[in-house]
Amino acid sequence: MALSTTYGQSADERLKSPDGRMEATFYLRDGVPHYELKRDGKPVVLPSRMGLTLEWRKSDLASRFRIARVDTTSFDEVWQPVWGEEANIRNHYNELAVTLVQDFYLDHEGKRVDKPTVMVVRFRLYDDGLGFRYEFPQDIQNSEFKIQNSLVTFWLTGELTEFRMAGDHTAWWIPGDYDTQEFNYTQSRLSQVRQLHDSPHISGGWPWKSFSDTGLQTALQMKTDDGLYVNIHEAAVLDFPTMNLDLDPDRSTLKVHLTPDATGYVGRLTSPCYSPWRTVQVCEKATDVLRSRLILNLNEPCALEDVSWIHPVKYMGVWWEMISDHSTWGYTNDFPSVRLPGDPSLPPSLQGAITDYSKAKPHGRHGANNANVRRYIDFAAKHGFDALLIEGWNIGWEDWYGKDKDYVFDFLTPYPDFDLPALNEYAHSKGIRLIMHHESSSSVTNYERFMERAYNLMNQYGYDAVKSGYVGHIVPHGEHHYSQPIINHYHRAIVEAAKHHIMVNAHEAVRPTGLCRTWPNMIGNESAMGTEFRGRINPGHTTILPFTRLQGGPMDYTPGIFETDMEKNAPWNHDLMRHTICNQLGLYVTFYSPLQMAADFPEHYEPHLDAFQFIKDVAVDWDTSIYLYAEPGDYIVTARRPKVSSLNKAAEGVGELPDGRKGVISNTARFVYALPDTVQHIDLSTYQPKDTWYIGGVTDENAREFSVRLDFLKPGVKYEATIYADAKDASGYVSDVKMGWEAARKEGYNPKAYTITKKTVTSKTVLKLKMAPCGGFAVSIRER
Ligand code: NOJ
Ligand code: CA
Repeated sequence: MALSTTYGQSADERLKSPDGRMEATFYLRDGVPHYELKRDGKPVVLPSRMGLTLEWRKSDLASRFRIARVDTTSFDEVWQPVWGEEANIRNHYNELAVTLVQDFYLDHEGKRVDKPTVMVVRFRLYDDGLGFRYEFPQDIQNSEFKIQNSLVTFWLTGELTEFRMAGDHTAWWIPGDYDTQEFNYTQSRLSQVRQLHDSPHISGGWPWKSFSDTGLQTALQMKTDDGLYVNIHEAAVLDFPTMNLDLDPDRSTLKVHLTPDATGYVGRLTSPCYSPWRTVQVCEKATDVLRSRLILNLNEPCALEDVSWIHPVKYMGVWWEMISDHSTWGYTNDFPSVRLPGDPSLPPSLQGAITDYSKAKPHGRHGANNANVRRYIDFAAKHGFDALLIEGWNIGWEDWYGKDKDYVFDFLTPYPDFDLPALNEYAHSKGIRLIMHHESSSSVTNYERFMERAYNLMNQYGYDAVKSGYVGHIVPHGEHHYSQPIINHYHRAIVEAAKHHIMVNAHEAVRPTGLCRTWPNMIGNESAMGTEFRGRINPGHTTILPFTRLQGGPMDYTPGIFETDMEKNAPWNHDLMRHTICNQLGLYVTFYSPLQMAADFPEHYEPHLDAFQFIKDVAVDWDTSIYLYAEPGDYIVTARRPKVSSLNKAAEGVGELPDGRKGVISNTARFVYALPDTVQHIDLSTYQPKDTWYIGGVTDENAREFSVRLDFLKPGVKYEATIYADAKDASGYVSDVKMGWEAARKEGYNPKAYTITKKTVTSKTVLKLKMAPCGGFAVSIRER
């Protein structure tokens, strides 16, 4: 520790990364905090200001600082995530904490108060990037002094942190927003952002409003002209609003723009507290971006003592049929509006308006009906899946969208044709868990009202995972998906769910910032444009998401769509998806998630069971991941080895069902342990797994070929590889969707042409793997 009484102007405080190649510098200029970042002596972030602005006081946290104290430390550990892309993660950094003091502040009337304000700026520098945050202690003390912080409860109006880029970099970006990330990405120079801001983004059609014509979201992936990959994001967003960036294109400068709440403030804080980490990841290779664990490492260790109930999940769903308009979530057309029983806003005189579903005429297109759910359970069980999601099981869906209703669902009452106890019993008898669905319609008020009862219902029937959703405007009205009160809601839902041993997969919630390290029951999020956007998804989209959205945690992208022509699902739906079948197979490896769906209809898998076999065999949780080739917007090729302990755990997870059923093995376990179909319910610990690897590749609209050296296999051992590849004449639908589906249908595309080849391979083999336009490949490799 060094003591200093510097006022206004300070010496440079320097911090090096463990490998010495990165250097962060902090200093005060005229009392204003600044930082900069260099790699190999070259600037990555030019001198950039730091600080925050306040309401209530007339002075801010931006200037008049002096340095009271400087601390440095180092940290190096290896930790084991409950699930993840690898079994062991190294967290190795050097740290610099600068304690800043303002000796007086101006109160709300502008009167000077001679009491100190304390703010600590903490930097952690890794070999692959920088994290820094603002901290607000209640006091600081050592043997020589004690300073009581006058800043206790305070309201933020903004943050002044800047990231001054050292050049006009290429960026892969989506526009800034307070509510949604469901956009295609645009690739452009920073200087082109303003001109492209409104044009090419095809979102969910919801009229979200951008706060600026240069607003951007994080994680923002950039590439310098020297080929360095620079990524700006944040880690551990708790009790704080989401960070957007506002670009000053003339200075290549990104300024933090925090999401306001309904009253216009951005945050209400009470010390001790700290901001999320602001991160600048710097990598020399695109594959190193995928390998980086910067965001996870900046989050705190697991907060849950017992994690035995958390397990990876491969699932199917009564879902795509609603998305593609083959069936509906709702049950009846009888009612102009729905009023649910128990709605506290209804006066006694309007009790007659309460909807009685038992008297309603079903319209006949309700997807979550008993017979259909059983059909899916049978298929999922036959093919060795872990779970089945069912949406549209509960009353209220007739009013779910676009009505901004408060009391929109009760999350407790099934539709008359969904027999909740019987379906769970049937599913459990076949080793399948049902996944609960809670669409909140963004009525956070209402979800909070029912959350405890809804989780209790899940416990009663043995559901251990929930998919939640936040479609539409937030209730309370005026709040945003990214504002502090709603960030707190998502978090509360995770923490409460953990008490009930429930795993959570939230759609439309804020994009994640690594909190799954601390609360590993947060097994999924959508929070980006996923498969539900069908033909509107650009071909290169899934080659960008691992650089951006996935940096903060796994995504429930819901891959596996074999039938790309939506007219086959509903004749009036002319949407056409822009991938090949092998592209979808490749995603199970290139896209990390401990929760993976096979999203298409059983009847679309039936004619392609040979290709479906890869989805059955592939693991979803990993011991080792090797990123072979990658470039955002172009391609990704990844190899992974499954984590055997989690395969066993998935089987145990089903064993914890209320009926006490044990040892139902998933098809992945069957594959890795090379078990014949005749072996059904067994204790896996008595068997020996085979060394197994999976390789996946995906490309954008361009055909590509890659050579993959299998030097990661055990030397001298023979393996059998099964290669699923686009056929010579295969192609996804390439052209721009703007031409319209009519024209598109006349163009050539051939997404279902694939070949499956088996061959013996060793660590010396080099596989040549080709991908068609919008295509991909998948390979499973198992020791003989
Ligand atoms: C949007 C979600 O992303 C989708 O998966 C879900 O089916 C609908 N909302 C309805 O909840
Ligand atoms: Ca969505």
